Amino acid sequence: MHQQSLQQIPRLVVLLSGGGSNLQVLIDAIAAGAIVATIDLVISNKADAMGLVRAHKAGIETRVINHLDFGSREAFDRELMHAIDDKQPELIVLAGFMRVFTAQLTHHYNGRMLNIHPSLLPQFKGTNTHERAIEAEVDQHGASVHFVSSELDGGPVVLQALVPVLELDSPRVLAARVLVQEHIIYPIAIKWFCEGRLKLNNNAVLMDGHQLPVTGIPFQS
Ligand code: GAR
Repeated sequence: MHQQSLQQIPRLVVLLSGGGSNLQVLIDAIAAGAIVATIDLVISNKADAMGLVRAHKAGIETRVINHLDFGSREAFDRELMHAIDDKQPELIVLAGFMRVFTAQLTHHYNGRMLNIHPSLLPQFKGTNTHERAIEAEVDQHGASVHFVSSELDGGPVVLQALVPVLELDSPRVLAARVLVQEHIIYPIAIKWFCEGRLKLNNNAVLMDGHQLPVTGIPFQS
């Protein structure tokens, strides 16, 4: 391949804590040529995360950085930033990374870190989103892709998949339906970013130069 085009391929670093199904769809989308990018490193804070196995199988470098080995959130985040910056990635992809960041880290990656969250933000930030959606008796639940800011699950939204809540839904059943939608919208948003179509400018999300509404682009499959 020509040297210049090689340099233009966006480098990604993925952070996860668990199963890594969102990592897997990203690996598959890159392998299929649907996204032109390379995953240069997968970092997990849990040594037994299934996502690490998926990365190994795909021949991707992995690192475990266990938050329990650090005396403070600041020290953990400093180590994360070292490991990430070593790869000079264009984009950092959070794929089920279950740690809260310091403002230092989120500022450092402002506009180049995406997260997927299993709710229609700004509803149900934090954990146990499916239980809370059922308890609140909402008709619509879903998932959101957003840029990461210093506010937990509060960064500007790019894309939202809408998933209706059904009468007999348990949190587990609802979570499974939401996850199917996550696997559709996250690769779309990552592709847009890698193609230079999706940008964050002064806390506003720009798609092809046009500012998106605060709840991003709605997606219903
Ligand atoms: C996904 O449902 C993702 O939205 C959620 O963790 C799961 C990871 O699944 N992320 C968060 O809750 C972040 N606040 P995966 O490991 O199979 O990709």
